[in-house]
Amino acid sequence: MRVDVITIFPEMFAGVVSTSIWRIAQEKGLLQVVLTDLREYTTDKHHKVDDRPFGGGPGMVLKVEPVVRAARAVQAQQPGQPGRVLLMCPQGRVFDQALARELAGEERLILIAPRYEGYDERIVEILGAERVSIGDYVLTGGELPAMVVIDAVARLQPGVLGDEESVVWESFGEENGGLLEYPQYTRPAEFEGRSVPEVLVSGDHGKVERWRREQARERTARMRPDLIENQEPGDGANRSAPPER
Ligand code: ADE
Repeated sequence: MRVDVITIFPEMFAGVVSTSIWRIAQEKGLLQVVLTDLREYTTDKHHKVDDRPFGGGPGMVLKVEPVVRAARAVQAQQPGQPGRVLLMCPQGRVFDQALARELAGEERLILIAPRYEGYDERIVEILGAERVSIGDYVLTGGELPAMVVIDAVARLQPGVLGDEESVVWESFGEENGGLLEYPQYTRPAEFEGRSVPEVLVSGDHGKVERWRREQARERTARMRPDLIENQEPGDGANRSAPPER
C-alpha cells in the first residue's frame, strides 16, 4: 500500500515513519509512506499556502491551487492509480475500526493535512476528497490525524504485525463482534497481593474461552454501552473466544 501525505510539516512525520511497526512495514515492502511538502507546489516567492477568507472573518484559509497541484503531482507518480483522497477535518466521517478496515483494502491513499482555520471548499469538490475526522475535538492541523489513520490502516496490512490473529480478536475486531477486548495478564501470577484470575491458570480451555467472552461483554457494557446498542443481531458476540496464545 502506498500512502501519500500532503502537508506543510513533513518533518512532523519523521519520528513515526522510522519507528516500530511503520519502519517494519516499510522494510517488508508492505507500506510506502511518501511525504509531500505543500510549499513546493506554490508559485509565489513567499511560498504562501494560505490567504484571507472571502466574505471576511477570522483566520486564514488554505488555498486551493497548491493543494490541487500537489495532489495531481503525486497522483501522476503512479498513473492509473489515483488513490482515495482523504482530507483530515473535524467535520468528516468519524474514523473507526470499520473505516480502518475499509481503507486497509485500498492500494493507495492520499491524505491531505490542512492547517489554519480552514481550507478552500473547492479542494473537496475538485479532488473528490472524503473528509475524515479522528474524533469530536479540534486539533491545530491534520498531521496528527493523518498519522492516526496511517497507523490504524498499516497494522491491518497482512504480514505487518506477524500475528494475524491479534488483529481479528482485538477490540472492535470483526470476530469479536465489535466488542472491547477481554482483560489480559502475564507473569508473574501474583504481584503486590493481586493474583491473576484463577480460570486463566486452570488449563481448561473451554472455561477460559467462556470467561473471556463474558469479560468482553461485561467490560463493553460498562465502558462502552453504545457498542452493544449498535450491535447487529448475529454479530460475533456469540462466537467463541480466540484460541490460546
Ligand atoms: N483537524 C483538526 N482537528 C481534526 C480532527 N479532530 N480530525 C481530523 N482532522 C482534524
